[in-house]
Amino acid sequence: MPEGEIIGESRVQDSVTIVIFGASGDLTHRKLIPALYIAYAQGLLPARFTIVGFARREYDDAVFQQMLAKSIQQFSRLETDPETVARFVEHVRYHKGDISTPGAYESLKARFSDTETYPENRLYYLSIIPSLFAPAVKLLKEAGLVAKPGAEHWTRVVIEKPFGKDLKSAMALNTKLLKYLSECQIYRIDHYLGKETVQNILSFRFANAIFEPVFNRSYIDHIQITAAETVGMEMGRGGYYDEYGALRDMVTNHLLQLLCLVTMEAPGDLSAESIRNEKVKVLNAMRLDIRKNISDAVCRGQYGKGTDAEGKPITAYLDEDRIDPKSTTESFAAMRLSINNWRWAGVPILLRTGKRMAKKTTEIVVQFKVPPLQLFQQVECDDDVCDITRIKPNTLIFQIQPNEGILLQVGTKRPGMRFVVEDVKMDFSYSGTWKKSLPEAYERLLLDTLHGDSTLFTRSDEVEAEWRVVQPILDNLDRLQPYTYPPGEWGMPEADWLFHGVEGKWRNK
Ligand code: BG6
Repeated sequence: MPEGEIIGESRVQDSVTIVIFGASGDLTHRKLIPALYIAYAQGLLPARFTIVGFARREYDDAVFQQMLAKSIQQFSRLETDPETVARFVEHVRYHKGDISTPGAYESLKARFSDTETYPENRLYYLSIIPSLFAPAVKLLKEAGLVAKPGAEHWTRVVIEKPFGKDLKSAMALNTKLLKYLSECQIYRIDHYLGKETVQNILSFRFANAIFEPVFNRSYIDHIQITAAETVGMEMGRGGYYDEYGALRDMVTNHLLQLLCLVTMEAPGDLSAESIRNEKVKVLNAMRLDIRKNISDAVCRGQYGKGTDAEGKPITAYLDEDRIDPKSTTESFAAMRLSINNWRWAGVPILLRTGKRMAKKTTEIVVQFKVPPLQLFQQVECDDDVCDITRIKPNTLIFQIQPNEGILLQVGTKRPGMRFVVEDVKMDFSYSGTWKKSLPEAYERLLLDTLHGDSTLFTRSDEVEAEWRVVQPILDNLDRLQPYTYPPGEWGMPEADWLFHGVEGKWRNK
């Protein structure tokens, strides 16, 4: 058994056939198969399971098995054992077919008559373009490959974001999917929810009594969430990205989910429905913080050309592969929101995300108000050279990735003859606390789908509530033309304006 087992995780009991639609794609090789392999190597998959890769390419079982064995070696988070890999890929089959034609489903059904090889509980993982979600589900249903909820054998369907392109299309997609499936059979993946550090937000807030009493408008000055990436449009990403952009790709799912977890009320219990009900409630209270114009609350950008840290040239967004040179799609988005409920009214919420930024980091910063009376002088010291500065507010930082951890910045007396205060960090890091590497988001999420636990998946009303928050931006894109920002930095000055009237600025660290 490789190191890094998931503590307390139980083995899936139900025998299952996992069908991956779009199995020749990147996600299958980089994430899904390595995640399933790790679950297998840790003894968490059931004794009887089969993985079927469903795609158009001309492979057979043996070729596909070899390809997956290579992917496991290349992308597994843990060291691989050749014998275990060989045993794992024996569970893999390949089904050649065109996902948009009924014939491919008929032949799949014919294969499934061998229930010894293909157990009747079925997980369909749709790793395909969004426009094929509804047609694929329809064809599955028409071929009789979808069990009724509550039947002896279950059917579950996993779909990957984007769930629509705006509120209207998201609602249309939900309606179509719900025509063939019931809500409890649909697992909408937002892989951020599978990250350990993201799940820890709820534990940290509701397993400790000390923070929750101050998590409100009386004590918190503002909240800022950053998801910065250094990558650009390499590996053909541009084709998908230029159609969606940062708002649809990152904000309407990952960033809003982080915001939900940090601002929602405590659920009555840990059931999927209770947690998701609270998320929907807080999403419904979120508004863009527009004073006069939408541009007071939203800022979009595209990276220009430049050089990276090693001096290598960086291509401007508009000159990237598969990007329309006249594109107005944003590779950076920042916005200011408010949450109209008793807990958060008046607390500015700032979100930003972008490609080609200074570093890869995702963090949530909760900044507290400064004390009502300034008794002490605050200093900022570099060895023994100290400057007097303004009093620093306490900040609580959820470092989602990398260097996963939680940081609390507090003022403390600097040793010496005078009463001066210096900022110090109380620092919890995962790597310093636990030796084992953290499970990948997909490991957790795939196991949850096999266990039938939908807590970490987005419900249809939640998806629609997310789109409602950003829809005013999508309706006003012509008034929010993207600025150009230098690659390798933290965005552009226009994003700083979102802090008007706020005691603070973006934490560019
Ligand atoms: C995906 C986006 O959902 O998340 C990508 O489509 C983005 O554009 C990625 O790069 C970031 O994920 P992570 O886990 O690396 O922060």
